[in-house]
Amino acid sequence: MQNKNIERTSTRAFSDVPISATAISLIKSILLKSNPGIFGHVYTIRLIQNDFVKKNRIKKISAYGAITGKPAYIFSVSSHKKYALIDYAYCLENLVIELTDSGIDSIWLGGMYKKRKLKKLFRLKDHDMIPAVIAIGNGKISTKTVSSSEQSRHRLSFGVVFFDLTIGKPLTMDHAGEFADVLEAVRIGPSFKNLQPWTIVQDTDNPTETSSPTSSNTKMVTGVKISTSSRRYHFYIKNHKISDQKHMDIGIALSHFDYMRKAKKLKGHFEILDGLDVPDYEYVATFKVL
Ligand SMILES: Cc1cc2nc3c(=O)[nH]c(=O)nc-3n(C[C@H](O)[C@H](O)[C@H](O)COP(=O)(O)O)c2cc1C
Repeated sequence: MQNKNIERTSTRAFSDVPISATAISLIKSILLKSNPGIFGHVYTIRLIQNDFVKKNRIKKISAYGAITGKPAYIFSVSSHKKYALIDYAYCLENLVIELTDSGIDSIWLGGMYKKRKLKKLFRLKDHDMIPAVIAIGNGKISTKTVSSSEQSRHRLSFGVVFFDLTIGKPLTMDHAGEFADVLEAVRIGPSFKNLQPWTIVQDTDNPTETSSPTSSNTKMVTGVKISTSSRRYHFYIKNHKISDQKHMDIGIALSHFDYMRKAKKLKGHFEILDGLDVPDYEYVATFKVL
């Protein structure tokens, strides 16, 4: 895995030529890799190709943002539970990152018209849910250029979504130290209607801790050895009107965080802690740095 940022933007205009057989076998090999969720859910990913879409007249899947051309779709089935939805998005976004690295364009589609039709086609049970599908394929060059310039325009800034010790106190990249790139990977991630509901609080047992972008796991501060291993990152969702889409947005944030911290060889694990509830925010999980 390379230590680079996640470079992707949504593609809504796909090529009119269906994905080649070679690309389909590459996609299938990526989908088959072991990819468990953080909270214990495992998803079997389904791939539907354009001929299936055509044969079954699954037109106009997206409820907003028209999708053109002949993409394929990937999705799975989940329960409605919070951590199942978070894992759903975590697992699918892990795949999106890998597909992007292989040159395959994509877009998340959570607002869908055809969920019931897909459920019928795949003979799913009533309580089964398809929370979102992802359209994948080759994007038309012109739309890629437009969306990449739009993407940087629309993201909230670092200190607006990441906080230092307490919600409301902006975290600087400097104080995030070696985790600045990890948080940046979260900041640029996709979200439903680009609402960016993720909020992360950097916390430490050692309030005197300071860090620099070049710091390693231990450093000397005025002669005292300080370890970033007392660090924790608490993940919250902004806004008390929580929806399935926001749970998926935070799953995507966790995927980007995990991808980048692994790329930077930063050790730690996720856990769900008690006593971290804050008004108007929904607590999700904590990453404990080791
Ligand atoms: C969970 C989720 C659901 C989404 N659903 C839709 C959708 O139904 N229709 C659509 O056009 N875009 C959808 N999007 C794409 C977002 O609008 C897009 O990611 C966001 O505007 C940021 O743009 P970017 O992906 O190009 O960075 C969805 C994104 C996420 C994460």
